[in-house]
Amino acid sequence: MLKRVERVSAEVPKRANHSYREILEVEDLTKFYPPVRRGILGFRDLLDTLRGRREDVLALEHVSFTVRSGEWFGLLGPNGSGKTTLCNIILDITTPTSGQVRFDGHDVNREHGHTRGRLCPMQYQFFHDRVSVRDGLRQTGAEWMLPRKEIEARIDWLVDLFEMRDKLDDWVIRLSGGMQRKVWLIATLMSGAEFLVFDEPTWGLDVFTRRTLYRELGQFMEKTGTTVFWTTHNLQEAQETCDRIAIIDNRLITVTTPKKLMEDMHKANLEEAFVQLLRGEQESPVGSDSGTTRIGTS
Ligand SMILES: Nc1ncnc2c1ncn2[C@@H]1O[C@H](COP(=O)(O)OP(=O)(O)OP(=O)(O)O)[C@@H](O)[C@H]1O
Ligand SMILES: [Mg+2]
Repeated sequence: MLKRVERVSAEVPKRANHSYREILEVEDLTKFYPPVRRGILGFRDLLDTLRGRREDVLALEHVSFTVRSGEWFGLLGPNGSGKTTLCNIILDITTPTSGQVRFDGHDVNREHGHTRGRLCPMQYQFFHDRVSVRDGLRQTGAEWMLPRKEIEARIDWLVDLFEMRDKLDDWVIRLSGGMQRKVWLIATLMSGAEFLVFDEPTWGLDVFTRRTLYRELGQFMEKTGTTVFWTTHNLQEAQETCDRIAIIDNRLITVTTPKKLMEDMHKANLEEAFVQLLRGEQESPVGSDSGTTRIGTS
C-alpha cells in the first residue's frame, strides 16, 4: 500500500515540506466562452442571435479557494465542470471573464514578471521526434536556460528517482506510453518550478506505472517542497495522493481532504462520496450505505 494513504489526516495534511502558506489564491473566478461559431458565413449564428438564442458557455462561476505551499492539491469534477479551464487560467493560457488568480500575491494573468518560470504545466514537447531521452532532457534544460552542469546534475538525479537510467539513450518515441509519460514528468520537474499544474497526467496509464508516478512524485515533493495542482477522474488516485481536494461543477462544491469528505458522506471510498455529493443516492452503487450530511471545508 502507498504510504501516503496514512499520512492524509482530516484537518492537517502532513508533508515534510508543507508550509501552510497560501501560495495560490483563486478568487471569485468566472469564465464564459463565446458560443462556438456554426457555418462558414455564420448565418445560423446571426439568426440565433436575432432570436436571442445564442448564449455564452459558462465554464466557471464565482470559484474561490486557496492552495497551500508544498501540498498535493486535487481538482475534481465531472466532464465539462471547468477543470481544464481553471488550469489554463492558472497557467495564463486563457484569461478569466472576472475574478483573478494570485500566485504568491501576484495576478498570474497580469504580473508575468513575478510569476514567469514559477508555475509549470506538464511538458509534452520534443517527444514526437527521433530524440533520445538524454538529448530531449538536455534540450528542455537549455530551454529553461539552466547552466550545463545543472542540467546534467538534474538529469542524473531524476533518472535515478524515476528508475529510467537504462533508457537514457533510447529514442523517446520508441518507449511505451507510460515510460514516455515518465520522461515528460522528468522534463517538467527539471524546470525547478515551485508550482506544477497537471491536467489528467495519469490518463491511460496502467496501475503499476501510476503507482510508480505517485510514489516518485511524492518523494520529489518531499525533497523539494514543490506544490502539485492535479486534475484527475481517477478518484482512487485522488484518495491515495491528494492532501486536499476541491470539487467543482462549474461552481465550487467543496474544498476538503479526501478523508474528511468520506467521513462527512459516511462512505468507505472517495468515489462513492463524490457520487453522492454530486448526484445524490440514485447513482451510488446498489448496496452502498446512505445518509447525507453537512460538508465541512478545510
Ligand atoms: N475553447 C472553448 N470554447 C468554448 N467553450 C469551451 C472551450 N473550452 C471549454 N469550453 C466549455 O467550457 C466548459 C468547461 O470545459 P473544461 O474543458 O474546462 O471542462 P473539464 O472539467 O476539463 O472537462 P473534462 O473532464 O471533460 O476534461 C465546457 O462546457 C466546455 O464545452
Ligand atoms: Mg479537462
